Amino acid sequence: SSCCSTNALLQGKRVLITAGPTREAIDPVRFLTNRSSGKMGYAIAKAATAMGAQVTLISGPVALECPPRVQRIGVESAADMLVATQAHATDADIFIATAAVADYTPISVAAQKIKKNADVLELAMKKTTDVLATIKLAHPQLFTVGFAAETNDVMAYARGKLERKGLDMIAANSVADGKAFDQPTNALEVVWKDGHTSLPEMDKHTLAHELLKLVAAQYHTRKP
Ligand code: CTP
Ligand code: CA
Repeated sequence: SSCCSTNALLQGKRVLITAGPTREAIDPVRFLTNRSSGKMGYAIAKAATAMGAQVTLISGPVALECPPRVQRIGVESAADMLVATQAHATDADIFIATAAVADYTPISVAAQKIKKNADVLELAMKKTTDVLATIKLAHPQLFTVGFAAETNDVMAYARGKLERKGLDMIAANSVADGKAFDQPTNALEVVWKDGHTSLPEMDKHTLAHELLKLVAAQYHTRKP
């Protein structure tokens, strides 16, 4: 099915994707990050390209090759990801935020390597700017898809994020018991304003294709 029936669903559409983790510097040699591998975002980038889209991938540090014909822009911090995404949002038709963006960043970066003098080290942190919510607010016409990683109450939290961030669609997954993060497979609960569907556990490439079929259907039928 992936080769023949869906290969023009996103023909000529510009799809902007964030993927991977971010790195928040503590000092010149240390940073905080998370377990995101970027696999889901890269699989979506590849599948969108196969469906005829022009893809820009804003990527945190990952150990993955850029899919053919995808324009990749590498970033490190949540703040970098925001700037790079803003720079490419104006041209986009569809925005899919798969990145595991740091929610907090150190208030200040130590200019020199922190020495192990204190027995207890406290790190003061502040909230980062939400890339997804910021982009949607600035570009209400941009068809915007969020991801939600939850350990519990998956559907309720997903709908909350859909509404709070004003999204067109959200793809939620359970990350309880080590699921999803850095795994080859994933399962998604996909939720939009007046519907939802479950995509059962499958290979991330197949899942990316199934998700994009839902995105294309909602994108092409949405009300003005
Ligand atoms: N997201 C973002 N920028 C942030 C935080 C999150 O763009 N600073 C995006 C993610 O890429 C994802 C969506 O927001 O598409 C939801 O991320 P998630 O971590 O599940 O939700 P949060 O809103 O950060 O809330 P919490 O972590 O408390 O569940
Ligand atoms: Ca978060």
